[in-house]
Amino acid sequence: MNNTALITGASSGIGKELAKIHAKNQGDLILVARRMNLLESLKQELESTYSITVIIYEMDLAQHGAGTRLVEMIKQQNIKIKYLFNNAGFGGYGDFVDRDLLIDTEMIQLNVTALVELSHGIANEMIIHGGGKILNTASTAGFLPGPLQATYFATKAFVVSFSQALNQELRNKKISVTALCPGPVQTEFIAVAGMSKSKMFQGAKSAEYTAKKGYNAMMNDKLICISEPSLNFLINCMLWMVPRRMVLKMIERMQRIH
Ligand SMILES: NC(=O)c1ccc[n+]([C@@H]2O[C@H](COP(=O)([O-])OP(=O)(O)OC[C@H]3O[C@@H](n4cnc5c(N)ncnc54)[C@H](OP(=O)(O)O)[C@@H]3O)[C@@H](O)[C@H]2O)c1
Repeated sequence: MNNTALITGASSGIGKELAKIHAKNQGDLILVARRMNLLESLKQELESTYSITVIIYEMDLAQHGAGTRLVEMIKQQNIKIKYLFNNAGFGGYGDFVDRDLLIDTEMIQLNVTALVELSHGIANEMIIHGGGKILNTASTAGFLPGPLQATYFATKAFVVSFSQALNQELRNKKISVTALCPGPVQTEFIAVAGMSKSKMFQGAKSAEYTAKKGYNAMMNDKLICISEPSLNFLINCMLWMVPRRMVLKMIERMQRIH
């Protein structure tokens, strides 16, 4: 396999679009998600359009140790990963104390633990093979606390922090690490998070737009990619001036559905 990319959460949304871009660039793919039927049709589409190889794995990355098991499977098949896209993730709306704790711990397992396991395993392989690139899908939620999505925002804060630290540690080992931080994107994420009635996603960017921004940022070894210029300005130039309590109230108001 050549220029192989491992993409988690490739069955829909941003991950699916990342797969299409990489295929267009003649890179082989390993695609991971739970819905095998969607992965199967994407594999057929990409292999018939481009002369590339696509391997698909059905895997629930929210299960304990799943990221490590995936690394082992790839090592056993002797596949060299040049690009790692840690993209699978989900959110969930509601007051933290009223939410099903199991769903929130699964969220942490997927958004954080699987990402850490894959980064560790694959970065070590990249070091052996002379380098590579990692794109972690974080969120603009990673720059703020998020009342009514407390766990989700916190998982993304982890990803923003972790990606930057890894970038610094790995830059002398020819590995770049980029955090993709989108604002609202029109994907299945909205329904999965229970936010279909939320006004926050009016005017959301497309998955295609967001994936392009992230992919290009990764190729250019960027540290952080806030994919919308207006949000980039707000986060980098305005946010630090606003009192914390005001930020908390504002985010709570923006997110509240009822
Ligand atoms: N949409 C937004 O507004 C937005 C904004 C900022 C950041 N993000 C982030 O972008 C990333 C991609 O989300 P998206 O917007 O493209 O949403 P999406 O369309 O719902 O895609 C999520 C992907 O993750 C996979 N996934 C979910 N649970 C999984 C599990 N337990 N094991 C393995 N794969 C799993 C899904 O596949 P299966 O269901 O087939 O497993 C799907 O391919 C996420 O990390 C999300 O937090 C989204």
